[in-house]
Amino acid sequence: MKTTINWGILAPGRIAHKFAHDLQLVEGAKLHAVGSRSLERAKDFASEYGAPHAFGSYEALLDCPDLDAVYIASPHVGHCEHAIMCLEKGIAVLCEKPFAMNTSEVLKMVECARKNNVFLMEAIWTRFIPCFEEMLRLLKDGYIGELKTIRADFGFKADFPLTHRVFNPALGGGALLDVGIYTIFLATWLWGKPERIKATAVMSSLGVDDSCAMIFEYPDKRLAILDCSLVLKTEIEAYIYGETGTIQLHNRFINPQDLSVSFYEKTSEHFHVPLTGHGYYHEILEVNDCLRRGMTESEKLPLDFSIQLMETLDWVRREAGIVYAVG
Ligand SMILES: NC(=O)c1ccc[n+]([C@@H]2O[C@H](COP(=O)([O-])OP(=O)(O)OC[C@H]3O[C@@H](n4cnc5c(N)ncnc54)[C@H](OP(=O)(O)O)[C@@H]3O)[C@@H](O)[C@H]2O)c1
Repeated sequence: MKTTINWGILAPGRIAHKFAHDLQLVEGAKLHAVGSRSLERAKDFASEYGAPHAFGSYEALLDCPDLDAVYIASPHVGHCEHAIMCLEKGIAVLCEKPFAMNTSEVLKMVECARKNNVFLMEAIWTRFIPCFEEMLRLLKDGYIGELKTIRADFGFKADFPLTHRVFNPALGGGALLDVGIYTIFLATWLWGKPERIKATAVMSSLGVDDSCAMIFEYPDKRLAILDCSLVLKTEIEAYIYGETGTIQLHNRFINPQDLSVSFYEKTSEHFHVPLTGHGYYHEILEVNDCLRRGMTESEKLPLDFSIQLMETLDWVRREAGIVYAVG
């Protein structure tokens, strides 16, 4: 069994800093190497987090000796290519959400991982947040009876320069793939692919979806009502309505530490379940554990789920008329 898992970071941008911070909290793992399109950026990042190796290209990163796993944090449009580059070299991959730009790209990644017998997982960190896991336990125990409706929102005011990737159709910008994916993750995780989808988007002058509203219809009159935005600050909460009560995942439902259960006969309960670091700590533990056990995918977040999630995102896109410059 490997004692220390050596991680590499491919594309040291904003989220990679948070990931590197949390990696420092994980026992039996360390940041081994950083790869950027700029050697200077790679060196700066490596020295900030104590990584011994820095490279001025993604290709060079993957030739670094003793690299066990790579965290891919490039813009969405790079995920498929960058994941396949790692997998072909036999290096395990944790790839940021959205896994890729569309289902056909996700299928290529999954096929490559399976062909090479190498670990691959989408970085849907919410799945591993302890409070989210507590909610799954409550639902499994039938805490609020049969589930009827899910509501979730994720809107923030993106005060970034107009050149930022979220406003750029060529980089897969827009609310749906950046934040709407979390609301769709919740519905798809609990209920799978819907029977019908209604969706509409408000497009920006730059050609990305500023906001998107969705209704998913499931058998037995179940509904998921979801919305996301890059121009509106919303509550970022989720509600699961059941026959006998409601579970609320408090702000931000994507990395919650608090959940409330209110029963319709008026009693309520509150659960505080702390997370570690920024919350990325928990998905890192899962990958390390899978690698130590010689697994090529996570049982807690299987690749077939990521395929289903992307199929649902593609379906929303078609319904809402969202078109990306790539994919
Ligand atoms: N899990 C989460 O909570 C979370 C949060 C935010 C973002 N994300 C995901 O993580 C990915 C990165 O997001 P981010 O906010 O970290 O983005 P970011 O700050 O823009 O960083 C992305 C990095 O990718 C590299 N890159 C490669 N090709 C690029 C291109 N054509 N244009 C711009 N940068 C390019 C750059 O690093 P070098 O040039 O140095 O190589 C850049 O620093 C996205 O897919 C996003 O959905 C996840």
